Amino acid sequence: MQLDLSGKTALVTGGSKGIGRETSILLAKAGAKVIINYNKSAEKAEEVKKALADSGAEADIFKADISAPEEVQALFDFIRSRYGRLDILVNNAGVIKDNLLLAMELSEWDKVLDTNLRGAFLCTKYAAEMMMANHSGKIINISSIGAIKGGRGQTNYASAKGGLISFTRACAVELAGKGIRVNAVLPGMIVTDMSSRVRKRAGEKILELIPLNRFGEPSDVANLIVFLASDKADYITGQTIPVDGGMSVS
Ligand SMILES: NC(=O)c1ccc[n+]([C@@H]2O[C@H](COP(=O)([O-])OP(=O)(O)OC[C@H]3O[C@@H](n4cnc5c(N)ncnc54)[C@H](OP(=O)(O)O)[C@@H]3O)[C@@H](O)[C@H]2O)c1
Repeated sequence: MQLDLSGKTALVTGGSKGIGRETSILLAKAGAKVIINYNKSAEKAEEVKKALADSGAEADIFKADISAPEEVQALFDFIRSRYGRLDILVNNAGVIKDNLLLAMELSEWDKVLDTNLRGAFLCTKYAAEMMMANHSGKIINISSIGAIKGGRGQTNYASAKGGLISFTRACAVELAGKGIRVNAVLPGMIVTDMSSRVRKRAGEKILELIPLNRFGEPSDVANLIVFLASDKADYITGQTIPVDGGMSVS
């Protein structure tokens, strides 16, 4: 199946590393122009941009903390003036701040909710407005199987990612009439910086819970994101799709 995104403009939040990095690369390979958002990892974002430019793709990087309304506004002002349109939004940026419930600081709760959920809300609001102008668009929210399985020390993360599933469904219903599809992808245990500590600490035990008996690669998730961004997924909206080697059903 050929996925053709030529002529499309895509924004990937948290595109400097991990799943966002791979998604930016695969979207560009499919022909999209890609805006790679980052917050702290400027060098890594530059590397992704260079990789895209070397392969002949059009790409920009833009620093913005997606939990900060004025920075998100600046990001979308840039997209509007530079590209004039937005076809694909991947709400990928995320953080974890694990702690047991009774020990969890309000700051840890707020940080995780603000980045994973409020950030997606802010970006979706601006993106939907731009997409409505063309009566088309694809929004892909990166949730987690942590939203449906729960996990020790992750009340903040599970709440944010569960909220993102509900947000996806509500947006899908509200935006369907505007030609905008909204779906959520639920990664399992993927080999990135985010999961490195838990893989080191409990890797073997976790592998036993994964029927396909391996951790996922960023490309396992990015392939689905690119499919959902393409016109081959035009009849799919409001869905939550795990990419977890079967972890959520074991
Ligand atoms: N890895 C897994 O096993 C796994 C499993 C389930 C779900 N997920 C989800 O998948 C997504 C990507 O995770 P990953 O594993 O690729 O993590 P990662 O390698 O740690 O990358 C996280 C990305 O999010 C960006 N980011 C964090 N806070 C930000 C903010 N306030 N504003 C803008 N960007 C911000 C980071 O950018 P800077 O470094 O530039 O700040 C980085 O590019 C996340 O939503 C995560 O929750 C991952």
